[in-house]
Amino acid sequence: MSKNKIFLLAITLMGFFILFFALHKENLSELKAEEKTSKITLPKVSYAGKTSVEEALSQRRSIREYKDEPLKLEELSQLLWAAQGITSDRGGRTAPSAGAKYPLEIFVVVGKVEKLDPGIYHYHPQDHTLIKIKDKDQRDELSLAALHQSPVKEAPVDLVVTAIYKRTMEKYGERGIRYVHIEVGHVCQNIYLQAQSLNLGTVEIGAFEDAKVKKVLNLKEEEPLAIMPVGRK
Ligand SMILES: Cc1cc2nc3c(=O)[nH]c(=O)nc-3n(C[C@H](O)[C@H](O)[C@H](O)COP(=O)(O)O)c2cc1C
Repeated sequence: MSKNKIFLLAITLMGFFILFFALHKENLSELKAEEKTSKITLPKVSYAGKTSVEEALSQRRSIREYKDEPLKLEELSQLLWAAQGITSDRGGRTAPSAGAKYPLEIFVVVGKVEKLDPGIYHYHPQDHTLIKIKDKDQRDELSLAALHQSPVKEAPVDLVVTAIYKRTMEKYGERGIRYVHIEVGHVCQNIYLQAQSLNLGTVEIGAFEDAKVKKVLNLKEEEPLAIMPVGRK
């Protein structure tokens, strides 16, 4: 091999190394930023409610007015678990998912929850934790994005069900869109039934401006599909 070729090879290899370390460094700093954010470990969930599935189904109604009282952190924990909690060693969740692709992400807009500062949080089912993504009570802003619907600003907390479509569409193509929407229905019904079992009220809100909701929640690849205000009846 000529000296010129060896020189070119050495320069190319060096280029690859510099690129690799630059990318790696970026990942490290992202991790550090994530680590710096305080994780909130949610209270343990209960598997022994006092309401039967049949009772919850027959009593469930959409409730749009709530008492001006905070939710307990235990209640929020239970609702999030019902929505997307992990229930098997292999990662199975409370709600089914086409191809086990789990395209849904839940965000929590907190106004009045005991032991939790107002703000917006992202739910992580893997370790049943919340990570704060935005400070301050954002319920008014979310309600504006939801055509001024009052339950959104009056409930102590709003659960926002969002989807990353590509997780499902990578496997199922266009049909994946249908599957994602079916899954949102499962999750919302789980929240309805868990709320009923805790004697709380909720309503599924589908009327909102997507772009405005995305802005309030700082969403990038997630698309908002349902808002579930939850409060005491
Ligand atoms: C996909 C979907 C979207 C909905 N969007 C809204 C909404 O934006 N605002 C609202 O007040 N209720 C909304 N609802 C609740 C329905 O109005 C409610 O389910 C219906 O009136 C039947 O009442 P029930 O849930 O008490 O049985 C929605 C329900 C579904 C399933």
